[in-house]
Amino acid sequence: MPNNNKPIYHYSDLEKHAKGTLSHEVFTYIQSGSGNEETLKDNEQAFKKWKIKPQFLNDVSERNLSISLLDETYKTPFLLAPVGHLGAAHPDGELAVARAAKEKQVPYIVSTVSTFSLEEIADELGDTPRWFQLYWSSDQELTASLVKRAEKAGYSAIVVTIDTPILGYREADLTNQYFPLRAGYGSANYFADPVFRSRLKESPEVNKASAIEELLKIVFHPKLSWKDLAFIRKHTKLPIILKGVLHPNDAIQAVDYGADGIIVSNHGGRQLDGVLSSLDALPNIVQEVSGKIPVLFDSGIRRGPDVIKAYALGADAVLLGRPYVYGLAINGQAGVEEVLEHFLNDVDVSLATAGKSRISELDSSLVVKV
Ligand SMILES: Cc1cc2nc3c(=O)[nH]c(=O)nc-3n(C[C@H](O)[C@H](O)[C@H](O)COP(=O)(O)O)c2cc1C
Repeated sequence: MPNNNKPIYHYSDLEKHAKGTLSHEVFTYIQSGSGNEETLKDNEQAFKKWKIKPQFLNDVSERNLSISLLDETYKTPFLLAPVGHLGAAHPDGELAVARAAKEKQVPYIVSTVSTFSLEEIADELGDTPRWFQLYWSSDQELTASLVKRAEKAGYSAIVVTIDTPILGYREADLTNQYFPLRAGYGSANYFADPVFRSRLKESPEVNKASAIEELLKIVFHPKLSWKDLAFIRKHTKLPIILKGVLHPNDAIQAVDYGADGIIVSNHGGRQLDGVLSSLDALPNIVQEVSGKIPVLFDSGIRRGPDVIKAYALGADAVLLGRPYVYGLAINGQAGVEEVLEHFLNDVDVSLATAGKSRISELDSSLVVKV
């Protein structure tokens, strides 16, 4: 990556170089959190409260980073989190991420608000595992159409983001008056959708601005409630995973309503500021769910030891967010590949130096809260 030809390892260097590449508005959109950014900061701070207690002389000469999830084995211990509007970060956007994911065999959770359509992204991924993240539209027929298209394009799970009934109060974006959907990034799945197109008086090719206005009206669904999950179940055989769980009661509800998994996440501190850090939420939720469905985790993972700590605290898988987006901004596909390569190496080294050989060996005996 362009760092005087030196590789970039440090997260703050990734951030710095991305800042140097992107416009102020786009960098801020990616980097910032909502409100006073307390939760954004807490997500990283929370990892510092937990320390690893390694145990040695265990023969760690052969290591395995694979994980088992929903009856599949994934080669890498992390998936790529759904991040929307990636065309704003790099012209190749999600296509570059897909090529890098394929190269490194990292599963990719593709956002609804992607700059390229879910079918175009699937074509790039080949047989790389992929899930589709759903922003449940207030237009139910459109929601069903998106889910069916994802199933047809080989996505193997639907991730329903539940923490975004409406967009969080993002002061930085409000200050910059920057909204990527309005700027034209993130409409590909809608513009390619027969149901959405049928709602328009003029096609997006003829009148893009009015199509975007229509999209802004239906993108989120504030009325969504637990009983609506049956609607998705009716339209797909794929596992349904709820993203954005922070309260143990919601985790219990997820089990009761038949979700196949949950993701403990606060959306990278981008929804309600002042919510607890994702890592602080994790142990209670793991305890309540008690193995009935997988518990995934994101928000604040920056390095290998963070991955180790999240697994030790009971996560069944973790998602990588901002780090790969910065790689994309800095150098497209190659930039994402470099970030993934470094992360894989970091997790591998962290595992061995914690005295373990497999991700599945990580449990709470490995960590202590200080
Ligand atoms: C720029 C940006 C856009 C995002 N877009 C989406 C999205 O479209 N759908 C979604 O469910 N989560 C979205 N997220 C949240 C991520 O999936 C993930 O929860 C978050 O990035 C984790 O925090 P971290 O990146 O600080 O580790 C977005 C995050 C960022 C930074």
